[in-house]
Parts: sequence; structure tokens; C-alpha cells
Amino acid sequence: MRMGELSVCKRIDKVGVSPTMKVAGEAKAMKARGEDVIDLSVGEPDFPTPQNIKDAAKRAIDEEHTKYTINAGTVELRKAIQQSLKRDYDLNYSLDEIIVSNGAKQSVYNTIMATVHVDDEVIIPAPYWVSYPQMVTLAHGTPVIVETTEETGFKLTPKQLSDAITPYTRAMILCNPSNPTGSAYTKEELEEIAEIMSKHHIFVIADEIYDKLVYDDFKFTSFPSLGEDTKRRTILINGVSKAYAMTGWRIGYTAAQKNVIDGINKLQSHSTSHASSISQQAAIEAFIGPQNAVTEMRNEFTKRRDFLHSELNKIEGISCLKPNGAFYLFPNVSKLFHHKSKVYKIENSFDFAMHLLKETKTAVVPGSAFGAEGYLRVSYANSMENLGRAVERFKKAVEMLS
Ligand SMILES: Cc1ncc(COP(=O)(O)O)c(C=O)c1O
Repeated sequence: MRMGELSVCKRIDKVGVSPTMKVAGEAKAMKARGEDVIDLSVGEPDFPTPQNIKDAAKRAIDEEHTKYTINAGTVELRKAIQQSLKRDYDLNYSLDEIIVSNGAKQSVYNTIMATVHVDDEVIIPAPYWVSYPQMVTLAHGTPVIVETTEETGFKLTPKQLSDAITPYTRAMILCNPSNPTGSAYTKEELEEIAEIMSKHHIFVIADEIYDKLVYDDFKFTSFPSLGEDTKRRTILINGVSKAYAMTGWRIGYTAAQKNVIDGINKLQSHSTSHASSISQQAAIEAFIGPQNAVTEMRNEFTKRRDFLHSELNKIEGISCLKPNGAFYLFPNVSKLFHHKSKVYKIENSFDFAMHLLKETKTAVVPGSAFGAEGYLRVSYANSMENLGRAVERFKKAVEMLS
């Protein structure tokens, strides 16, 4: 490289561009041209933020909550998080064991940056949320991807976990319920994981952003609630984005031992500082205000999941598990590979996603983006009407293949 030449550093060069970008970019361009695209690629609830939360934000502005706050988040907000963790999971965290960040994504990023040493191995079960491996790479750690299968409901087995552990393993990222599969671990499954982590002195980054979105009679278990030893080795991530339809408000949090929170606090103090003061006030209402909006959203998501799951399974060549959580289905479309449309040969999930988009104006995310070729991530955070229309489009896209 010539001196003075403007270029990005190696650290950034190593980070991949999201493979979802091409489909998403195309979908955006089609929408901009006024085409009737049904977007099932989105990772956010389609519901409005509940009125009581919006009102709290308006009050926050009128009451001058418009200045810098403490870097870790206001005492009131951390108290609200503390109370919600006690109410929901009987978890006890002190205020200096909680830090609020600008969305759970920043919580995960800061956690990884503050805890992963150079060359530490971090186990990430696949299918994974796209940002985890990239964040570990940015921290100069080594992502160790362990592929789960449909047979285990895309959940990591104790044997797979034990086999992946080496003397360099430092942590595992456990996304429960999972983005992209919607799978949720039972208490017994989590206990098996916790036991292995304890035996090998490995810590767990438990991303529980979808904790409130579980369906039927599935009972969600928060990882640190398994016991004191597990709590000590868990860095818990959560936030308001998914459960309270607040993706744009950018409030997430990390709860862990004080030394970890202190490290994250330092990092955050030299980058973004605290999250928006107005959003923080709104989040207090989300965490400890009335919770009925969550129940209503959950009921609606249940109906949509049941409908889409049953309809997709009726289409020849597509098969789909019924997950317990989040708002995604992860259908297997590999039987449709090696077929041809008029224009494309479908070789992989990206090809199928492009075919579906170009021919039927329906956007989904190819499984390859999540480290799982052969699948699609289909979000049901959309109206029943649109889901019905999308099913017809899926049928048409499959019929077009020979
Ligand atoms: C698994 C998972 N973790 C974290 C996040 C980030 O959430 P936020 O919007 O609060 O940054 C998302 C959002 O898509 C997610 O799916």
C-alpha cells in the first residue's frame, strides 16, 4: 500500500458484507419503483409501539429528559430492568451489574469487544444471527461455527458442544429463542449446556431478545436463572426492540458481573456514550408498565405462525418445522434445488430467494446468510392478509420450476 493512500484497515477488510444485502437491496429497488413487494425478510414486529410507551416518550420531551444521562443508563431505567428480571425470571442483579446500550446489537458488540481476547475461540451454533461471527472477527477472536440440524430442531446437542470445545474456547453465544430458526431450548436442554460450560469454565453470551415471543404452552427459561454458578458465567443480553415493537428506539441492555459491566461501560463511554435519553424514559414504561400489549402481539404472532407453517408445508418441495418462538419460520427448500425457471437455475437458497423475489415480488432471506444452506428465513411479522398473498406467490414460484 502506498503511504497516504486512503484505504480501510485489515480489521474491516476481514469483515464480510452481509449476503442478505443483495436480496434486500433488490427488494428495496423494486419497492422504490412502486412494485407490490411483500417483504417477509424483515426482523421487526409490524405492530406500532404501544400507546403507553409512546406517551411516556412524549412526556419525557416535555419534562426535559433531553440532556446527557449516566453512561450506563439512568438509575430509573436500570431499576426498571432490575425489576423486570426479578418479575419474569426471579433474577437478582444489582444496578452496577446492568448497562443500557443503543440497541441489543450494540450490547452484543460491546460485550464481545470487552471480553474476547485475541485468538479466543467463540462457539456459535449455526444457523446463527448474521452479526455474531463478524463481531467476533472484529474482536480478533475466532468464531467456531457448529452446524445444528433440523433433526434436533436446530438446537445444539451436548455432544456437539463438548466436541467443539478446545483449550482456546472462551465463550459460546446462545441465541434463545433463535433468530433465524425460531427454535427455543427447554429448561432441561439448557441445564445440559450449563453443565458443560461449568465443567470447562466457559462463559455464555445469552442473547434473549426474543424471550417474550414464545408460543402455545412453551415456557421460556432464562439461562442465568438456572443457578448461581450459571448466572456467574452468563452475560445476558436483552432489550425492548422485539417484545415491545420498539426497534427504532434503540434500547438494549447487558446484565452480568460488575467487572464485565465496568469494561463495557469504559468502551461505551469512548464510543457512543449512553442511549437516547427520551428512549430511556420510554423503555421504563415498556419494562414495568402494563404488559398486555405483549400478550396481544404474542396471540397475533401465534395465529400467523400456525397459518404460514401449515400453508408452506402444503407446497410440494417445501417442508418446515413449527418453532416455539421469535417470528420466523425456517423452511427447507433444498428439494427445489437443481430445478430451472425460465431464467434461472436454482442451485441454492440465494437463487431461490432471488427467483421468488423477481418472479413473484416476495422477499425472504436465504439460509446461507445464517450459515445454513438449503433453507429460507421467512418472517411472519406481517399482516394475515399479506401472509395469505405470500403463500399464493410461493406456490406460483414453485410451479414455475421444471
Ligand atoms: C438475535 C438478535 N439479537 C440482537 C438483535 C438486535 O436488536 P436491536 O434492534 O435491539 O439492536 C437482533 C435484531 O434483529 C436479533 O435478532
